Amino acid sequence: MDLAKKVIYQVYTKSFKDSNGDGLGDLPGVIEKIPYLAQLGVDMIWLNPFYPSPQHDNGYDVADYCAIDPRFGSMEDFEHLVQVCQQHKIDIMMDMVFNHTSTDHEWFQKALAGDETYQDYYYLRPAKEDGSLPTNWDSKFGGPAWARFGETELYYLHLYDVTQADLNWHNPQVRLELQKVLNFWLTKGVKGFRFDVLNVIGKSPVLIDSQEPGSAQEKSLYTDTPIVHQWIKEMNQASFGQRDDIITVGEMSSTNVLNGVQYSNPSEKELSMIFSFHHLKVDYQDGEKWSNPAFDFLQLKAILDEWQRGMSDGQGWNALFLNNHDQPRSNSRFGDPDHYPFETQTMLAQTIQFLRGTPYIYQGEEIGMTNPDFAEIDLYDDVETHNNYQLLLAKGVSPAEAMSIIQAKSRDTSRTPMQWDDSPHAGFTQGQPWLSVAPNYPQINVERELSQGHIFNYYQNLIRLRKEYDVIAYGTYRGLLLEHPQVMAYVREIKDQQLLVLSHFYPGTIRLTLPSEFIDRSAKKLIGNGPLMALNSEIELAPYETVAFYFNEQA
Ligand code: NOJ
Repeated sequence: MDLAKKVIYQVYTKSFKDSNGDGLGDLPGVIEKIPYLAQLGVDMIWLNPFYPSPQHDNGYDVADYCAIDPRFGSMEDFEHLVQVCQQHKIDIMMDMVFNHTSTDHEWFQKALAGDETYQDYYYLRPAKEDGSLPTNWDSKFGGPAWARFGETELYYLHLYDVTQADLNWHNPQVRLELQKVLNFWLTKGVKGFRFDVLNVIGKSPVLIDSQEPGSAQEKSLYTDTPIVHQWIKEMNQASFGQRDDIITVGEMSSTNVLNGVQYSNPSEKELSMIFSFHHLKVDYQDGEKWSNPAFDFLQLKAILDEWQRGMSDGQGWNALFLNNHDQPRSNSRFGDPDHYPFETQTMLAQTIQFLRGTPYIYQGEEIGMTNPDFAEIDLYDDVETHNNYQLLLAKGVSPAEAMSIIQAKSRDTSRTPMQWDDSPHAGFTQGQPWLSVAPNYPQINVERELSQGHIFNYYQNLIRLRKEYDVIAYGTYRGLLLEHPQVMAYVREIKDQQLLVLSHFYPGTIRLTLPSEFIDRSAKKLIGNGPLMALNSEIELAPYETVAFYFNEQA
């Protein structure tokens, strides 16, 4: 299994393709579109959760880990999906939400009914002596991280929504149950697991107040604790680690390079790779997500550079991505899709995909889908969005300003239905979609892209080049021009081969002086989205231009 040559595509199941008109994407819808994904050239699809769930957090509130919510299909549909994927040489990665269960889960319900065995599956604590909550921690979705446990005097911990109760991994029975879940899906033919917020499972058994609710210091009380590594190793040994064809990726909230290396260095026997998010916080004002400043380009470069170097030095492995179902669309965020839709999207894709790691493409990227910019709060569905809209208003932010922040940051910006064609609701559903389609679907849709666009084709080429050129898959990384305010540049190297990647992140044309090591050498333009054809000591880059030159001393 060659991790470095693979490309993974993320299917947000609920918004991908609805086959039965109920407004929700479903497994038969995914099956219908597998040939489209095969045409793109991806090796694996990561499917967001479709387990039974009350959907308070779009399926990340799982009520049964080994079943399929009838709204999304049946187990037969899943088995059929596995077969169709096999025919197209595409593997399946399942999403494992093991930090918490839905409060509808049988375990939580039994706990509520008084069963002490199941009460020990969760973090239940009494109030402090003064009657206040067990700790002062904030939920990541806003408000306190504790809620009353039924009619009792106890409270249960929920780092996310109040309907997502944190599992007590200190209980060995909990860990066994979760290992069984992994083995259940392995026998169904699954070849990958994405682990939701895995690095926050290691809360201390004794929970203490933080210096300030919601602070970084608070997160350090439950993030990346040493026991997380121990539990991942145990899970690895008991399930996917027994095979050599399984890919795993941990979603690591607020982690650091040191831990990233440990999670993903093969000799540690933990995971294949990790998602980290620091590079997607460069448009937070003073660390606050619910704000809308221009993004800090130098910081973006510095963070990507730090992770590339650090993971490479420690033999860790990065998941490469700018988009997912929790992030605004990167073209709206870091570029100008209104004026330069092709250039923006392909520049971002090339910049990220040619780094060292395994690329992830989020549905719709390959056709240039954008944020929807809905003007009404009621058009957004996400629990985090609504909580934070209210918090912004409560802080005195005007409704207009609050809406512009929501338009930029809501997780629903990337969750709008996939735009297949220009028929009503973009061909996503024959019914009413659970979330409105972005209004630009008549211009941006798969049908149109395949007949007259160039973005999809560019993505196909990026994927193909990774398979053809070892320097892209295995090369080392070296950052260049780190202080340049408009251009990101780096070089990948393996044996006698080099790949120079230059990406211009702004409109307007700029002149750039190249480092002398690239001058007067024979270079082949491998791919680019703009006019530059050859390298000289001074080159010109067009708006959002990206280009990659290949040097091979042997050739
Ligand atoms: C991360 C997931 O990607 C996100 O969508 C979810 O809300 C949280 N984890 C909680 O499960």
